[in-house]
Amino acid sequence: MSKLKTNNNLIKEIQYWKKKREAVILAHNYQIPEVQDIADFVGDSLELSQQAAKTDAKIIIFCGVHFMAESAAIFSPQKTVLIPDLKAGCSLAASITAQELRKWKKQYPKAVVVTYVNTSAEVKAESDYCCTSTNAVKIVNSLPSNQEILFVPDMFLGDYVAKMTGRKNMIIYPGECHVHARVRPQDITHKMDEHPKAEFLIHPECGCVSTCMHYVAAGDIPVRQLADKTHILSTGGMMKYAKSSAASEYVVATETGILYRLKKENPKKNFIPLRDDMVCQFMKMITLPKLLNSLKNLEFEVKVPKEIADRARIPIERMQQLSN
Ligand code: 13P
Ligand code: SF4
Repeated sequence: MSKLKTNNNLIKEIQYWKKKREAVILAHNYQIPEVQDIADFVGDSLELSQQAAKTDAKIIIFCGVHFMAESAAIFSPQKTVLIPDLKAGCSLAASITAQELRKWKKQYPKAVVVTYVNTSAEVKAESDYCCTSTNAVKIVNSLPSNQEILFVPDMFLGDYVAKMTGRKNMIIYPGECHVHARVRPQDITHKMDEHPKAEFLIHPECGCVSTCMHYVAAGDIPVRQLADKTHILSTGGMMKYAKSSAASEYVVATETGILYRLKKENPKKNFIPLRDDMVCQFMKMITLPKLLNSLKNLEFEVKVPKEIADRARIPIERMQQLSN
């Protein structure tokens, strides 16, 4: 059977089972095109946790990585949250465990912990505030300027926030995402030379963000005046920016899965990946056959123990209050 025919059959079956189970399918912006197309909602990590909290559906099929499904489970303990592949993890979330964080906190007893959402529920339970790439600067700015902060776990986002807020009292954990850490400033200069009219969209987890921020802040990005064209955004922020901007060409520095949605929603505009190899193999583990299996066999449930969920909810709720 051709791939198209197989996919068409799978799509029909998924739709049948979705209705039967009264389920909702949520997909992250980095999911493969077939999964994005069949989802009820596609978005960034914050948007997906908001959708999970407000849906009436009792079953949520979470097409993303494990920590995102955990966040949905934390906010909807009465709903069943399923992930089509339990191995869909995140190298950034894996860079710190709750035990490591507890040890680190002991060294800085007066500090508060600000944790990026790409962490396990157990790490969130040890934290004071959560943040996303969209609101990290706002959350840190809302804390008293003399308050010492432990920022966990992304060193590039942490460095970006420290520069944007001008704080000298942020202690940043040395974690990183293997996909975003690949980016080097010379990748940007080469690509922007090739596309001199393009705008530049970059995710704050990128390895070169701190260098970019330094250039932008110092106003000394050479000839091409990259500073005016650089936009540091979450994946949801990139979607909104591309829609509202008049530019017709964009160089995109994040996981390449987002290009499908950018092109689909802006068919007249041109989107160029900064590097073709920025691919998150965890995000790509979710496929149509696995999604169908989830619906049919109600696999694989992501459950967070009540004691952990109750503690993990606190920093997320503080983030939501501060970012409104
Ligand atoms: P967003 O919240 O911007 O979607 O990012 C999530 C993520 O995992 C980035 O790699
Ligand atoms: Fe995690 Fe990086 Fe994949 Fe995002 S791209 S889910 S941060 S491993």
